[in-house]
Amino acid sequence: MISGGHRSPDGTPAERRAEAVALADELKETRALTLRLAACTTDDELHAFFDPDFSPVGWHLGHVAMFEARWLLETTHGEAPISERFDRIFDPRAVEKPRRGDLPDRATLLGYASEVRRRVLDHLARDAESRPSHELLRGLDAYRLVLAHEQQHDETMAAILRMRPLDSRERSGFPLPEPGPAVPRAPLRVSAGIFLVGSDAPDVYDNERQPHEVAVAAFEIDWQPATNRDWLEFIDAGGYSKPELWSDDGLAWLERSRPAHPSTWEGTAAGYRLEALGGETALPPSHPVEGVSAFEAEAYATFRGARLPSEAEWEVAARLAPDAEPRLGLACGAARAVGEGGDFLGNVWEWTSTAFAPYPGFRPHPDDGYSAPYFDGRHRVLRGGSWATQRRVARVTFRNWYEPRLRAIFAGVRLARG
Ligand code: AVJ
Ligand code: FE
Repeated sequence: MISGGHRSPDGTPAERRAEAVALADELKETRALTLRLAACTTDDELHAFFDPDFSPVGWHLGHVAMFEARWLLETTHGEAPISERFDRIFDPRAVEKPRRGDLPDRATLLGYASEVRRRVLDHLARDAESRPSHELLRGLDAYRLVLAHEQQHDETMAAILRMRPLDSRERSGFPLPEPGPAVPRAPLRVSAGIFLVGSDAPDVYDNERQPHEVAVAAFEIDWQPATNRDWLEFIDAGGYSKPELWSDDGLAWLERSRPAHPSTWEGTAAGYRLEALGGETALPPSHPVEGVSAFEAEAYATFRGARLPSEAEWEVAARLAPDAEPRLGLACGAARAVGEGGDFLGNVWEWTSTAFAPYPGFRPHPDDGYSAPYFDGRHRVLRGGSWATQRRVARVTFRNWYEPRLRAIFAGVRLARG
C-alpha cells in the first residue's frame, strides 16, 4: 500500500489517453520554459554561482533531467542509467552545493535532457494504451511528479538568473513589472474554530498529507501582502536600525548581513530601484515587497504592531478567500500591484511563523529525499506561490520551505493580528 492512501484517477481507456496527451503537452510547454531560462545565459553564467545558497543554473538543468530519468526511465520502467556519472553529479544528496560547479558543457547538458525526454515521451505514449504494473504508473502519477519537479526548479532557476548583472537580465527578454494601483481592502477576520488543513488529493506532496483538523483562535489577516510603499515606511522609520523590532535570531542575522533594504532593491541617488528578472526599473510602489528574509518580515510585522501568520492560519484564510486570477507562471516576469483578489496564490511567497515539520502520520512518498531531510527545525514554511510559480505547484495546501535568512527567493510578507 502506498503511504497516505495515495489515490490515482482510474478512468476509462479514452480518459487515460486524453490525460496522456495533456501531460505530453504540458511536459513540452514546461520544457520550453526551462530551455528558455537556460538559453538566456552565457556559457560562464550557466556554470556560475551567483549566491552560495544556490547551485548554478546548469546544475539545475542537469538535475531536472536526472530526476526525470530516475523516476520515469529507471524506477518505473526499469531502464539502465543513461549515465551513472550524471545520476551521481546531479543528485543533491551525493554532491554538496559548493562542488556543483564542475559540470558538463551546455551542449552535453542539453543533449542529455533531450535524450531523457525523448525516451519519456515514448514511454508515455505506451503507458497511455495499457495499465502498467508499477504503482506510480497506474494513474500516470510519476509523470505528474516529474512535471511538478521541473516547474519547481524553473522557479529556482529564475531566482538565480535574477541575481545576474543588469545587461544579462536585459538580454533575457522577460517583461519588466508594470506599475499599477493597489486596490485596498480591509483585513479578513476569522472567528475561532476547528478547521481542516492538508490534502490527500492525488498529486499533492507527502508533506501535505493527511488532511487533519486544527484548532485556531480568532485572528485577523491582511487581504494583501505588504507593498514596496509599506516597506519604505519601515525603512524611513529606521526599521533596519532599531534592535527592539528584531528577534534574537533576526538581530544576529542583521548584524551579520547588514541589509538596508530588500535584496531586490538598489539604492540610488534618485531613490530606490527594483532589480527585476528582465532588467531594472523604478520601484513600483503598489507591488508586493519581494526579497526579504523571514527575519526582516518579522521585524516589519513588529513595526506594524502585527505578526506573521502561522501556516495553519494562512491556509484557513486562503481557503476562505475568493478565487481570483492569480499572478503565476514565470513568463510574466514580475509581480503585479496587490489587488482585490487577495493574492493568496501567486504574486509573492509569504513567510509564516511556522517551522517546517511533518503533519500527524507523515510517511515519505514517493521520494524520501523531498520532505523528510528538511524536518530539522531550521527551515521555515512559506505559503502561497509567487509570480514565478507554475500551476502544478500553486495550491492552498502547498508547503514551501527555506531557511529564514534566505532572501533570493520571491518572498514577501502578509501580516496577521490577534
Ligand atoms: C520546496 C523549493 C524548498 O528546491 O529545495 C526540488 C523543491 N525539492 N527538488 C527545493 C525541490 C527537490 C524544494 N523547495
Ligand atoms: Fe529537485
